[in-house]
Amino acid sequence: MSHSLVTMSYIVATILFILSLSGLSNQETARRGNYYGMLGMAIAIIATTLSGSVTSYAILIVALLIGGAIGAKAALKVEMTQMPELVAIMHSLVGMAAVLVGYANFMDASTTLSGVEKNIHEVEIYIGILIGAVTFSGSVIAFGKLSERISGKPMLLPGRHWLNLGLLVLAIILGRMFLQQTETGGGTFPLLMMTLIALAFGVHMVMAIGGADMPVVVSMLNSYSGWAAAATGFMLSNDLLIVTGALVGSSGAILSYIMCRAMNRNFISVIAGGFGTSGGEAAVVEGDVTPISAEDTAQLLLDAKNIMIIPGYGMAVAQAQHTVNEITKLLRDKGKKVGFGIHPVAGRMPGHMNVLLAEAKVPYDIVYEMDEINEDWGHVDVSIVIGANDIVNPSALDDPNSPIAGMPVLECWKGETTVVLKRSMASGYAGVGNPLFVLENTRMLFGDANATMQAVLKALKG
Ligand code: TAP
Repeated sequence: MSHSLVTMSYIVATILFILSLSGLSNQETARRGNYYGMLGMAIAIIATTLSGSVTSYAILIVALLIGGAIGAKAALKVEMTQMPELVAIMHSLVGMAAVLVGYANFMDASTTLSGVEKNIHEVEIYIGILIGAVTFSGSVIAFGKLSERISGKPMLLPGRHWLNLGLLVLAIILGRMFLQQTETGGGTFPLLMMTLIALAFGVHMVMAIGGADMPVVVSMLNSYSGWAAAATGFMLSNDLLIVTGALVGSSGAILSYIMCRAMNRNFISVIAGGFGTSGGEAAVVEGDVTPISAEDTAQLLLDAKNIMIIPGYGMAVAQAQHTVNEITKLLRDKGKKVGFGIHPVAGRMPGHMNVLLAEAKVPYDIVYEMDEINEDWGHVDVSIVIGANDIVNPSALDDPNSPIAGMPVLECWKGETTVVLKRSMASGYAGVGNPLFVLENTRMLFGDANATMQAVLKALKG
């Protein structure tokens, strides 16, 4: 393939990636956005493969087959609830690729660069390995936390800020040593030392972040993986990789900003860590809960005019979205106004609830963002909270000592009646007790959300 054809293909792929990102920003166009992304990636792989820079097609084909088979198997096997950890482990692979490409570049004896160009190339290698190693180890820990293999509790070492600062200063000193030593053909020792420091920094950074801040960590590592890919692009002199990495890096950074705003948190304080504790234990809330049966819930819905459904992580676990959609259809056919209130950090990954509702074919125009509905709870007759907990916790607003204090939540208790569907009184991801469950106008419908929703559907039909 000629150089100009490769360049043309790269431009087309870049445009497709931009169209993909813009498509993904809206549920109605998200499917199209995915197709653009897939087409762009296919063009990018074909153009790079045929660009003449491949030295061994045999190795490339074997690598593509192995990578493709692992990717296909993971995609087929993964449950929807495991998606966030799959994304985290994928980020770690981008980081690892940057580290490996960096070392391959460093050891490549065939480079003929000299003077300033050589220095620039070495800086690229150093920074590429640094970002890649932080992304790799940080993503592995995020994977462990999201899959609950590692406790969500923040690990707070004494003097951790000084430790982080010390590691940064060491990385800068080693960078200087690396550039000095490469003049005479050395540099292995400072490079290895920096890699170890970057790996330790990634582990320490994510270990220090508590459960409640994980949404920001997920988007931040997404951004890092983009910058790691861009760094790889610089090392390989591949313009498309630089542009694609920058697109992922900057969109991840914007997502981190959105997540911080959604949680009313400051990015620096998130990175400093320590917010939120581990989840899963029984929450201590004082007061009595009022249980409700599926039949009475159905009656409440039949008597209501304005209904708001609030899905959370439990809906993903129960895979209740299809039953919820059936109930929604039935109620709308009966003339009820039904809406869905989506909290930006509901579930375990950005847009988690939107993906589930789109999968169940819930109409997009009745799905609302938190900001669109938080003023209107006075008009809501019944709210149905399906497997959500932290995102409807009044203590975020009322209790300044709560680990999630200040996080905006869906204020459903301001409506007439709230029905909460969950299996027990266990706390949510942030490990915080939820006073919503004992409020006078709250009813608890205990059980697996899909089973209870099916019982409500049966009662509605019957
Ligand atoms: P959570 O606070 O995690 O609460 C989910 C609730 O669902 C649990 O209390 C659980 O109670 C219930 N549940 C689980 N399985 C269920 C089932 N089969 N049937 C019925 N209920 C079930 O979820 P949320 O309200 O969506 O809040 C999200 C949390 O995750 C926030 O703290 C957020 O910061 C964090 N987080 C978010 C992200 C992103 S990017 N969205 C990433 C990482 C972490 P029972 O066990 O009693 O049933």
